[in-house]
Amino acid sequence: MNKAIKVGINRIEFSTTENYLALEKLAEAHQIDPAKYLHGIGQSKMAVPTPDEDTISIAANAAQDVLNTMTPEEVKTISTLIFATETGVDQSKSGAAYLMGLIDIHPNCRAFEVKQACYGGTAGLQMACDMVRARPDESVLVVACDIARYQQNTPGECTQGAGAVAMLITANPDIIEIDAERGCFSADIMDFWRPNQFKHALVDGELSKDAYLNVMASSYQGYLANGGKPLDQLEWLCFHQPFTKMAKKAFEHLSAQYPEQMADKTDAAYSISQQYGREIGNTYTASLYIGLLSLLDNAEQDLTGQTIGFFSYGSGAVGEFFSGTVNKNYRNAINTLANQQKLAARTALSYDTYCQYMYQLRDYDQANIRYNPTSGSNFRLAAIHDNKRVYERVLEPMSKAA
Ligand code: HMG
Repeated sequence: MNKAIKVGINRIEFSTTENYLALEKLAEAHQIDPAKYLHGIGQSKMAVPTPDEDTISIAANAAQDVLNTMTPEEVKTISTLIFATETGVDQSKSGAAYLMGLIDIHPNCRAFEVKQACYGGTAGLQMACDMVRARPDESVLVVACDIARYQQNTPGECTQGAGAVAMLITANPDIIEIDAERGCFSADIMDFWRPNQFKHALVDGELSKDAYLNVMASSYQGYLANGGKPLDQLEWLCFHQPFTKMAKKAFEHLSAQYPEQMADKTDAAYSISQQYGREIGNTYTASLYIGLLSLLDNAEQDLTGQTIGFFSYGSGAVGEFFSGTVNKNYRNAINTLANQQKLAARTALSYDTYCQYMYQLRDYDQANIRYNPTSGSNFRLAAIHDNKRVYERVLEPMSKAA
């Protein structure tokens, strides 16, 4: 591997739904103390997709936001579009192929989907980094999107959410250079899965928490053995975040295992990366990178030159520990105000409307259906016609690429 070439994230944008459910309302409906969700789980809001939003439409919003920051010449350098999801809409056709019809990209690129639970986004990112190391004149667009959905009235319900992240991977990136050193760990574990006949995930919650922590420990050891930086050289930590308490448990686990390396770290080392996820919920493949954006947007100090340690976990299970160093241009390359505004401008749903959107109106088995325009975002699922999904681009966004 050519380690002399610096590669990493040159642009990053996220999208989520325009509606959310406050977890106090879910607690009230479940007749439990809201403190369990707000503090025990550590979530305050759950992003809720309307019936005309799915992983393709939510992902298209994030991907188009990245393309809007690029010139036509820069767009032409995109050799590959990788779509990571575990909420696929088709067993054969990739979500990336649908995106090709919606966003302002050119057709001379390869487009495909990757899957390994929440790890898929990292699989895409690391594959993209290696592609750019091999061909530094090219760039790769990685899009990760999921709708986290559990059976109603089960313990997982409070961790649901929806969102996407789109990242442009290039040489000499403006935002963060991803180090070549990494540690991976894979094993066959039945902690979380979704059989083909199920529309929601099945989970062994307790096993999943243990598996997450054990896979993290093995991944970090692998990262160190491969020449990675010890924890005391990583100023910040971003963990895969199914709910904020899980990232706290990860931090505490590392602190217990490596007390000397973690001695100087306070909770701030990981908690700034939790601000967006606390308001959105689990976004599976996108969650780690929405955490990165939360850190970049909300850390008051200049992060230039500082190193972030990442732990990506996908149930089933695959883990990867890796690191990256923040570039001096990062503040100009991210849209902090727009990102904060996306969350601030959302609409609170009643519990009844949440139940309709998340459960009753999400009929996945229709061969023919027309969806009312409920979502106000730029891309929406308009209909399913003869088992073919029909998407609509509502607004023509302002684009440097146009
Ligand atoms: P549960 O069993 O209902 O919750 O579900 P609990 O009883 O364990 O309580 C949770 C916490 O709330 C505990 O704190 C309680 O003490 C506390 P902890 O001991 O953990 O620190 N608590 C309270 N705190 C304040 N006031 C109160 C109160 N009552 C209780 N009144 C569980 C929890 C996580 C199991 C459930 O939400 C679940 O199944 N979630 C889905 C699975 C999951 O997210 N697993 C995480 C690791 S696996 C992963 O990250 C992969 C994933 O993203 C999928 C993928 O890879 O694709 C999920």
